[in-house]
Amino acid sequence: MIGIDILEIERIKNIADDEKKLKKIFTKNEIKYFNNFENKYEHICGFFCAKEAVKKALDCPKNLTFLDIEILHTKSGKPYVKLNEKIDIKNQIKISISHSKTVATAVCLVI
Ligand SMILES: CC(C)(COP(=O)(O)OP(=O)(O)OC[C@H]1O[C@@H](n2cnc3c(N)ncnc32)[C@H](O)[C@@H]1OP(=O)(O)O)[C@@H](O)C(=O)NCCC(=O)NCCS
Repeated sequence: MIGIDILEIERIKNIADDEKKLKKIFTKNEIKYFNNFENKYEHICGFFCAKEAVKKALDCPKNLTFLDIEILHTKSGKPYVKLNEKIDIKNQIKISISHSKTVATAVCLVI
């Protein structure tokens, strides 16, 4: 199964600049990660796309919220997904993220 998403970075700013909205979508670890970057909107937008791509690849389960999908990184910077333990999915989930100054995109493979 496969999922993809693309989004203009401009469109994530109303979420990124509103702490309440931000915390409804991104975990503490994720917020800590992108607060390290000057170009944080690019990273936030990429994470958002990654979460949408994961949802699509999993066929959009109704009980799967944004906060159930956490984007983390290996030491080399490669992103991976940690699903909330309450979600009963045993498949491997692979993601890839890319962003430019104006758009971000992500792809997810569920194997
Ligand atoms: C890692 C690398 C490929 C990113 O490419 P880029 O054109 O600079 O940036 P992009 O916008 O396309 O991608 C950025 C995303 O790449 C992902 N990424 C970073 N390191 C990665 C890695 N080692 N493997 C896979 N994906 C990686 C991250 O998800 C990052 O976004 P995020 O920090 O918001 O999560 C590039 O910096 C690079 O070549 N680095 C040095 C060598 C290296 O580590 N290569 C491994 C990948 S083949």
